[in-house]
Amino acid sequence: MSSLDFTWLSARLVAWHAAHQRVLPWRTVRAGGRDAYQVWISEVMLQQTRVETVADYFRRWMERFPTVEALAAADLQDVLKTWEGLGYYARARNLHKAARQIVADHDGRLPSDRHTLLALPGIGEYTVGALLSIAYNQPAPILDGNVKRVLARLCDIDQPIDQPAVLRRLWELARAVVEAAPPDAAGDCNEGLMELGATICTPQNPRCLICPLVTMCQAARAGVQALRPVMPQRKQTPHYDVTAGVIWADAPYRSKLLIAQRPPDGMLGGLWEFPGGKLELQDDGLPACLRREIAEELAIEIEVGDLLISVKHAYTHFRITLHAFHARHTRGAPQTIGCQAWQWVELEELAAFPLPVTDRKIVAALHAARTAAAAC
Ligand code: ADE
Ligand code: SF4
Repeated sequence: MSSLDFTWLSARLVAWHAAHQRVLPWRTVRAGGRDAYQVWISEVMLQQTRVETVADYFRRWMERFPTVEALAAADLQDVLKTWEGLGYYARARNLHKAARQIVADHDGRLPSDRHTLLALPGIGEYTVGALLSIAYNQPAPILDGNVKRVLARLCDIDQPIDQPAVLRRLWELARAVVEAAPPDAAGDCNEGLMELGATICTPQNPRCLICPLVTMCQAARAGVQALRPVMPQRKQTPHYDVTAGVIWADAPYRSKLLIAQRPPDGMLGGLWEFPGGKLELQDDGLPACLRREIAEELAIEIEVGDLLISVKHAYTHFRITLHAFHARHTRGAPQTIGCQAWQWVELEELAAFPLPVTDRKIVAALHAARTAAAAC
Protein backbone atom coordinates (compact mmCIF):
# COMPACT_ATOMS: atom_id res chain seq x y z
CA MET A 1 0.00 0.00 0.00
CA SER A 2 2.34 2.62 -1.23
CA SER A 3 1.17 6.16 -0.82
CA LEU A 4 0.16 8.48 -3.60
CA ASP A 5 1.66 11.77 -4.67
CA PHE A 6 -1.37 13.83 -3.73
CA THR A 7 -0.07 17.13 -5.08
CA TRP A 8 0.46 15.62 -8.51
CA LEU A 9 -2.87 13.82 -8.33
CA SER A 10 -4.98 16.85 -7.49
CA ALA A 11 -3.18 19.04 -10.03
CA ARG A 12 -3.90 16.42 -12.71
CA LEU A 13 -7.53 16.17 -11.64
CA VAL A 14 -8.05 19.93 -11.71
CA ALA A 15 -6.43 20.27 -15.15
CA TRP A 16 -8.38 17.33 -16.53
CA HIS A 17 -11.65 18.62 -15.10
CA ALA A 18 -11.08 22.09 -16.59
CA ALA A 19 -10.69 20.52 -20.03
CA HIS A 20 -13.22 17.68 -19.94
CA GLN A 21 -16.05 18.40 -17.51
CA ARG A 22 -19.56 18.05 -18.85
CA VAL A 23 -21.70 21.12 -19.31
CA LEU A 24 -24.40 20.89 -16.65
CA PRO A 25 -27.06 23.40 -15.65
CA TRP A 26 -25.75 23.83 -12.10
CA ARG A 27 -22.22 24.52 -13.27
CA THR A 28 -22.89 28.10 -14.33
CA VAL A 29 -20.34 30.28 -12.60
CA ARG A 30 -21.39 33.77 -11.65
CA ALA A 31 -19.06 36.55 -10.59
CA GLY A 32 -17.82 35.48 -7.16
CA GLY A 33 -18.10 31.75 -7.81
CA ARG A 34 -20.88 29.17 -7.75
CA ASP A 35 -24.20 29.91 -6.10
CA ALA A 36 -24.34 27.96 -2.82
CA TYR A 37 -28.09 27.37 -3.13
CA GLN A 38 -27.65 25.84 -6.60
CA VAL A 39 -24.79 23.67 -5.39
CA TRP A 40 -26.91 22.48 -2.47
CA ILE A 41 -29.97 21.60 -4.57
CA SER A 42 -27.98 19.88 -7.33
CA GLU A 43 -25.85 17.85 -4.93
CA VAL A 44 -28.89 16.65 -2.97
CA MET A 45 -30.62 15.67 -6.22
CA LEU A 46 -27.45 13.89 -7.41
CA GLN A 47 -27.11 11.81 -4.26
CA GLN A 48 -29.41 9.03 -5.43
CA THR A 49 -30.13 10.00 -9.00
CA ARG A 50 -28.27 9.98 -12.32
CA VAL A 51 -26.90 13.21 -13.78
CA GLU A 52 -29.05 12.93 -16.96
CA THR A 53 -32.24 12.70 -14.91
CA VAL A 54 -31.24 15.45 -12.52
CA ALA A 55 -30.59 18.08 -15.23
CA ASP A 56 -34.28 18.58 -16.13
CA TYR A 57 -35.46 18.42 -12.54
CA PHE A 58 -32.85 20.97 -11.57
CA ARG A 59 -33.97 23.44 -14.25
CA ARG A 60 -37.62 23.13 -13.28
CA TRP A 61 -36.76 23.44 -9.61
CA MET A 62 -34.80 26.66 -10.18
CA GLU A 63 -37.65 28.17 -12.19
CA ARG A 64 -40.05 27.42 -9.38
CA PHE A 65 -37.83 27.98 -6.36
CA PRO A 66 -34.95 30.23 -7.52
CA THR A 67 -33.75 31.13 -4.01
CA VAL A 68 -33.68 29.82 -0.46
CA GLU A 69 -36.41 32.34 0.36
CA ALA A 70 -38.64 31.11 -2.47
CA LEU A 71 -38.22 27.52 -1.29
CA ALA A 72 -38.92 28.44 2.33
CA ALA A 73 -42.09 30.29 1.31
CA ALA A 74 -43.37 27.41 -0.83
CA ASP A 75 -46.01 24.87 0.09
CA LEU A 76 -44.65 21.39 0.86
CA GLN A 77 -47.13 19.97 -1.66
CA ASP A 78 -45.60 22.11 -4.43
CA VAL A 79 -42.13 21.04 -3.38
CA LEU A 80 -43.11 17.36 -3.48
CA LYS A 81 -44.85 17.87 -6.83
CA THR A 82 -41.66 19.36 -8.31
CA TRP A 83 -39.70 16.42 -6.88
CA GLU A 84 -42.23 13.84 -8.18
CA GLY A 85 -40.42 10.93 -9.84
CA LEU A 86 -36.99 11.58 -8.27
CA GLY A 87 -37.59 9.17 -5.38
CA TYR A 88 -36.33 9.32 -1.79
CA TYR A 89 -38.86 12.03 -0.97
CA ALA A 90 -37.33 12.68 2.45
CA ARG A 91 -34.73 14.65 0.48
CA ALA A 92 -37.40 17.09 -0.71
CA ARG A 93 -39.04 17.34 2.71
CA ASN A 94 -35.66 18.04 4.28
CA LEU A 95 -34.71 20.66 1.68
CA HIS A 96 -37.95 22.46 2.46
CA LYS A 97 -37.45 22.21 6.22
CA ALA A 98 -33.82 23.31 5.98
CA ALA A 99 -34.71 26.28 3.76
CA ARG A 100 -37.12 27.50 6.42
CA GLN A 101 -34.43 27.10 9.05
CA ILE A 102 -31.87 28.95 6.91
CA VAL A 103 -34.27 31.86 6.46
CA ALA A 104 -35.18 31.90 10.15
CA ASP A 105 -31.69 31.48 11.62
CA HIS A 106 -29.14 32.42 8.95
CA ASP A 107 -30.63 35.35 7.08
CA GLY A 108 -31.35 33.17 4.04
CA ARG A 109 -27.66 32.41 3.46
CA LEU A 110 -26.33 28.87 3.43
CA PRO A 111 -23.85 28.55 6.30
CA SER A 112 -20.19 28.09 5.38
CA ASP A 113 -19.00 26.04 8.33
CA ARG A 114 -19.31 22.32 8.91
CA HIS A 115 -20.89 22.47 12.35
CA THR A 116 -23.73 24.81 11.39
CA LEU A 117 -24.38 22.94 8.15
CA LEU A 118 -24.57 19.55 9.88
CA ALA A 119 -27.30 20.91 12.17
CA LEU A 120 -29.62 21.40 9.18
CA PRO A 121 -32.10 18.64 8.24
CA GLY A 122 -30.89 16.30 5.50
CA ILE A 123 -27.35 17.65 5.42
CA GLY A 124 -24.75 14.97 6.09
CA GLU A 125 -21.04 14.57 5.51
CA TYR A 126 -21.38 14.32 1.74
CA THR A 127 -23.46 17.49 1.33
CA VAL A 128 -21.20 19.38 3.74
CA GLY A 129 -18.12 18.42 1.74
CA ALA A 130 -19.78 19.39 -1.54
CA LEU A 131 -20.99 22.75 -0.23
CA LEU A 132 -17.78 23.70 1.54
CA SER A 133 -15.57 22.79 -1.39
CA ILE A 134 -17.69 23.62 -4.45
CA ALA A 135 -19.53 26.69 -3.13
CA TYR A 136 -16.99 28.03 -0.63
CA ASN A 137 -13.70 26.63 -1.89
CA GLN A 138 -12.69 25.09 1.40
CA PRO A 139 -10.54 21.94 1.32
CA ALA A 140 -13.28 19.64 2.68
CA PRO A 141 -13.34 16.03 1.46
CA ILE A 142 -16.30 14.34 -0.19
CA LEU A 143 -16.91 10.68 -0.67
CA ASP A 144 -19.69 9.36 -2.89
CA GLY A 145 -19.93 6.12 -4.83
CA ASN A 146 -17.88 7.49 -7.71
CA VAL A 147 -15.11 8.77 -5.47
CA LYS A 148 -14.96 5.52 -3.52
CA ARG A 149 -14.51 3.57 -6.73
CA VAL A 150 -11.75 5.83 -8.06
CA LEU A 151 -9.83 5.83 -4.77
CA ALA A 152 -10.25 2.08 -4.22
CA ARG A 153 -8.77 1.49 -7.67
CA LEU A 154 -5.98 4.04 -7.34
CA CYS A 155 -4.87 2.33 -4.12
CA ASP A 156 -5.90 -1.18 -5.15
CA ILE A 157 -7.91 -1.68 -1.96
CA ASP A 158 -8.81 -5.38 -1.76
CA GLN A 159 -11.30 -5.22 1.14
CA PRO A 160 -15.08 -4.64 0.78
CA ILE A 161 -15.64 -0.88 0.69
CA ASP A 162 -18.40 -0.89 3.31
CA GLN A 163 -16.02 -2.03 6.07
CA PRO A 164 -15.55 0.71 8.68
CA ALA A 165 -11.76 0.56 8.43
CA VAL A 166 -11.89 0.85 4.64
CA LEU A 167 -14.37 3.74 4.85
CA ARG A 168 -12.09 5.55 7.28
CA ARG A 169 -9.19 5.06 4.89
CA LEU A 170 -11.23 6.29 1.92
CA TRP A 171 -12.22 9.44 3.83
CA GLU A 172 -8.54 10.01 4.70
CA LEU A 173 -7.56 9.60 1.07
CA ALA A 174 -10.31 11.95 -0.08
CA ARG A 175 -9.12 14.47 2.49
CA ALA A 176 -5.48 14.17 1.40
CA VAL A 177 -6.45 14.72 -2.25
CA VAL A 178 -8.49 17.87 -1.61
CA GLU A 179 -6.00 19.28 0.89
CA ALA A 180 -3.30 19.02 -1.77
CA ALA A 181 -5.41 20.97 -4.28
CA PRO A 182 -4.00 24.18 -5.76
CA PRO A 183 -5.27 27.39 -4.15
CA ASP A 184 -8.89 28.15 -5.10
CA ALA A 185 -9.32 24.69 -6.64
CA ALA A 186 -10.76 22.60 -3.78
CA GLY A 187 -14.14 22.42 -5.46
CA ASP A 188 -12.71 21.70 -8.90
CA CYS A 189 -10.56 18.97 -7.42
CA ASN A 190 -13.54 17.27 -5.73
CA GLU A 191 -15.73 17.65 -8.79
CA GLY A 192 -12.89 16.31 -10.92
CA LEU A 193 -12.73 13.21 -8.77
CA MET A 194 -16.50 12.66 -9.08
CA GLU A 195 -16.51 13.48 -12.77
CA LEU A 196 -13.66 11.05 -13.43
CA GLY A 197 -15.63 8.32 -11.66
CA ALA A 198 -18.76 9.16 -13.65
CA THR A 199 -17.17 9.33 -17.10
CA ILE A 200 -13.78 7.50 -17.14
CA CYS A 201 -13.38 5.30 -14.10
CA THR A 202 -16.82 3.75 -14.62
CA PRO A 203 -18.05 0.64 -12.76
CA GLN A 204 -17.77 -1.50 -15.90
CA ASN A 205 -14.97 -1.15 -18.45
CA PRO A 206 -13.11 1.86 -17.06
CA ARG A 207 -11.35 3.80 -19.82
CA CYS A 208 -7.87 3.55 -18.36
CA LEU A 209 -6.21 4.31 -21.71
CA ILE A 210 -7.39 7.90 -21.55
CA CYS A 211 -7.36 8.28 -17.76
CA PRO A 212 -5.25 11.19 -16.52
CA LEU A 213 -4.31 9.21 -13.40
CA VAL A 214 -3.29 5.94 -15.06
CA THR A 215 0.41 6.34 -14.35
CA MET A 216 -0.22 6.22 -10.62
CA CYS A 217 -3.12 3.78 -10.55
CA GLN A 218 -2.22 0.64 -8.64
CA ALA A 219 -5.22 -1.37 -9.83
CA ALA A 220 -4.38 -0.55 -13.46
CA ARG A 221 -0.76 -1.49 -12.89
CA ALA A 222 -1.82 -4.86 -11.47
CA GLY A 223 -4.52 -5.30 -14.11
CA VAL A 224 -7.27 -5.75 -11.52
CA GLN A 225 -9.47 -2.71 -12.27
CA ALA A 226 -12.47 -4.96 -12.91
CA LEU A 227 -12.07 -6.50 -9.44
CA ARG A 228 -12.04 -3.12 -7.66
CA PRO A 229 -13.74 -1.90 -5.68
CA VAL A 230 -14.61 -5.08 -3.80
CA MET A 231 -18.34 -4.65 -3.30
CA PRO A 232 -20.18 -5.59 -0.10
CA GLN A 233 -22.22 -8.80 -0.23
CA ARG A 234 -25.76 -7.89 -1.23
CA LYS A 235 -28.63 -9.71 0.39
CA GLN A 236 -31.54 -10.65 -1.86
CA THR A 237 -34.19 -7.97 -1.62
CA PRO A 238 -37.60 -9.30 -0.51
CA HIS A 239 -40.68 -9.06 -2.72
CA TYR A 240 -44.17 -8.06 -1.60
CA ASP A 241 -47.55 -8.11 -3.30
CA VAL A 242 -49.42 -4.91 -2.54
CA THR A 243 -52.97 -3.91 -3.44
CA ALA A 244 -54.29 -0.46 -4.32
CA GLY A 245 -57.89 0.59 -4.82
CA VAL A 246 -59.20 2.93 -7.48
CA ILE A 247 -62.24 3.60 -5.33
CA TRP A 248 -65.04 5.23 -7.28
CA ALA A 249 -67.82 7.04 -5.47
CA ASP A 250 -70.23 5.53 -7.97
CA ALA A 251 -69.80 4.32 -11.58
CA PRO A 252 -66.21 4.02 -12.86
CA TYR A 253 -65.08 7.09 -14.85
CA ARG A 254 -68.42 8.81 -14.23
CA SER A 255 -67.85 9.66 -10.59
CA LYS A 256 -65.06 10.92 -8.39
CA LEU A 257 -62.41 8.64 -6.97
CA LEU A 258 -60.77 8.54 -3.57
CA ILE A 259 -57.11 9.29 -2.92
CA ALA A 260 -55.29 9.35 0.41
CA GLN A 261 -52.25 11.26 1.58
CA ARG A 262 -49.51 9.23 3.25
CA PRO A 263 -48.34 10.16 6.75
CA PRO A 264 -45.89 13.11 6.78
CA ASP A 265 -42.78 11.07 7.58
CA GLY A 266 -41.47 7.75 6.45
CA MET A 267 -41.44 6.24 3.02
CA LEU A 268 -43.10 8.42 0.33
CA GLY A 269 -44.22 10.70 3.18
CA GLY A 270 -46.65 13.43 2.16
CA LEU A 271 -47.40 11.93 -1.26
CA TRP A 272 -50.90 11.00 -2.38
CA GLU A 273 -51.83 7.50 -3.46
CA PHE A 274 -54.54 5.05 -4.30
CA PRO A 275 -55.08 3.58 -0.84
CA GLY A 276 -54.31 -0.05 -0.11
CA GLY A 277 -51.52 -2.11 1.40
CA LYS A 278 -49.45 -5.22 1.64
CA LEU A 279 -50.87 -8.72 1.18
CA GLU A 280 -50.71 -10.61 4.48
CA LEU A 281 -50.66 -14.36 5.03
CA GLN A 282 -54.12 -14.28 6.57
CA ASP A 283 -55.65 -12.57 3.53
CA ASP A 284 -57.85 -14.74 1.37
CA GLY A 285 -56.64 -13.31 -1.93
CA LEU A 286 -55.93 -9.83 -3.25
CA PRO A 287 -59.51 -8.42 -3.18
CA ALA A 288 -59.82 -9.48 0.48
CA CYS A 289 -56.50 -7.83 1.22
CA LEU A 290 -57.71 -4.62 -0.38
CA ARG A 291 -61.00 -4.62 1.56
CA ARG A 292 -59.11 -5.15 4.82
CA GLU A 293 -56.54 -2.43 4.11
CA ILE A 294 -59.21 0.10 3.14
CA ALA A 295 -61.17 -0.67 6.29
CA GLU A 296 -58.03 -0.26 8.43
CA GLU A 297 -56.77 2.89 6.74
CA LEU A 298 -59.99 4.78 6.04
CA ALA A 299 -62.74 2.93 7.95
CA ILE A 300 -64.93 2.49 4.88
CA GLU A 301 -66.36 -0.50 3.04
CA ILE A 302 -65.83 -1.14 -0.64
CA GLU A 303 -66.84 -3.60 -3.30
CA VAL A 304 -63.79 -4.76 -5.25
CA GLY A 305 -64.16 -5.05 -9.01
CA ASP A 306 -61.81 -5.79 -11.91
CA LEU A 307 -58.05 -5.71 -11.82
CA LEU A 308 -56.89 -2.60 -13.70
CA ILE A 309 -53.13 -3.15 -13.83
CA SER A 310 -50.23 -4.73 -11.91
CA VAL A 311 -47.14 -2.54 -11.62
CA LYS A 312 -43.70 -3.75 -10.58
CA HIS A 313 -41.31 -1.44 -8.77
CA ALA A 314 -37.94 -1.83 -7.05
CA TYR A 315 -37.20 0.24 -3.96
CA THR A 316 -33.83 0.16 -2.24
CA HIS A 317 -34.55 -2.63 0.22
CA PHE A 318 -37.48 -4.47 -1.34
CA ARG A 319 -39.46 -4.96 -4.53
CA ILE A 320 -43.20 -4.80 -4.94
CA THR A 321 -45.89 -5.76 -7.38
CA LEU A 322 -48.72 -3.29 -6.94
CA HIS A 323 -52.09 -4.71 -8.00
CA ALA A 324 -54.56 -1.91 -8.72
CA PHE A 325 -58.25 -2.83 -8.63
CA HIS A 326 -61.32 -0.88 -9.54
CA ALA A 327 -63.57 -0.63 -6.51
CA ARG A 328 -66.76 1.07 -5.46
CA HIS A 329 -67.41 2.83 -2.20
CA THR A 330 -70.37 1.18 -0.47
CA ARG A 331 -70.43 2.34 3.15
CA GLY A 332 -69.09 4.84 5.67
CA ALA A 333 -67.43 8.25 5.55
CA PRO A 334 -63.64 8.09 5.17
CA GLN A 335 -61.59 8.71 8.33
CA THR A 336 -57.92 9.64 8.57
CA ILE A 337 -56.71 6.57 10.43
CA GLY A 338 -53.76 5.32 8.40
CA CYS A 339 -53.37 8.50 6.35
CA GLN A 340 -52.98 12.28 6.81
CA ALA A 341 -55.87 13.26 4.59
CA TRP A 342 -58.22 11.93 1.94
CA GLN A 343 -59.99 13.56 -0.95
CA TRP A 344 -62.56 12.73 -3.64
CA VAL A 345 -61.17 13.94 -6.98
CA GLU A 346 -61.90 13.83 -10.69
CA LEU A 347 -59.50 11.74 -12.74
CA GLU A 348 -58.26 14.94 -14.45
CA GLU A 349 -57.42 16.57 -11.13
CA LEU A 350 -54.82 13.91 -10.27
CA ALA A 351 -52.19 15.68 -12.38
CA ALA A 352 -51.88 18.35 -9.71
CA PHE A 353 -51.06 15.96 -6.84
CA PRO A 354 -47.60 14.57 -6.01
CA LEU A 355 -47.88 10.80 -6.56
CA PRO A 356 -45.37 7.93 -6.34
CA VAL A 357 -44.15 6.59 -9.70
CA THR A 358 -46.24 3.43 -9.26
CA ASP A 359 -49.44 5.43 -8.75
CA ARG A 360 -48.59 7.60 -11.78
CA LYS A 361 -48.61 4.37 -13.79
CA ILE A 362 -52.05 3.53 -12.41
CA VAL A 363 -53.27 6.98 -13.51
CA ALA A 364 -51.86 6.37 -17.00
CA ALA A 365 -53.64 2.99 -17.10
CA LEU A 366 -56.91 4.69 -16.07
CA HIS A 367 -56.61 7.21 -18.89
CA ALA A 368 -55.76 4.47 -21.38
CA ALA A 369 -58.66 2.25 -20.24
CA ARG A 370 -61.13 5.13 -20.45
CA THR A 371 -59.97 6.03 -23.95
CA ALA A 372 -60.26 2.39 -25.03
CA ALA A 373 -63.76 2.12 -23.53
CA ALA A 374 -64.87 5.30 -25.31
CA ALA A 375 -63.65 3.90 -28.64
CA CYS A 376 -65.84 0.79 -28.36
N1 ADE B 1 -22.07 13.65 -8.76
C1 ADE B 1 -22.51 14.27 -7.66
N2 ADE B 1 -22.11 15.54 -7.61
C2 ADE B 1 -21.36 15.74 -8.72
C3 ADE B 1 -20.66 16.84 -9.24
N3 ADE B 1 -20.66 18.00 -8.59
N4 ADE B 1 -19.98 16.66 -10.38
C4 ADE B 1 -20.01 15.46 -11.02
N5 ADE B 1 -20.66 14.40 -10.59
C5 ADE B 1 -21.33 14.53 -9.45
FE1 SF4 C 1 -9.81 4.16 -12.88
FE2 SF4 C 1 -8.39 3.05 -14.86
FE3 SF4 C 1 -7.97 5.59 -14.14
FE4 SF4 C 1 -7.24 3.59 -12.54
S1 SF4 C 1 -6.44 4.04 -14.55
S2 SF4 C 1 -8.28 5.46 -11.94
S3 SF4 C 1 -8.88 2.13 -12.87
S4 SF4 C 1 -9.82 4.73 -15.04
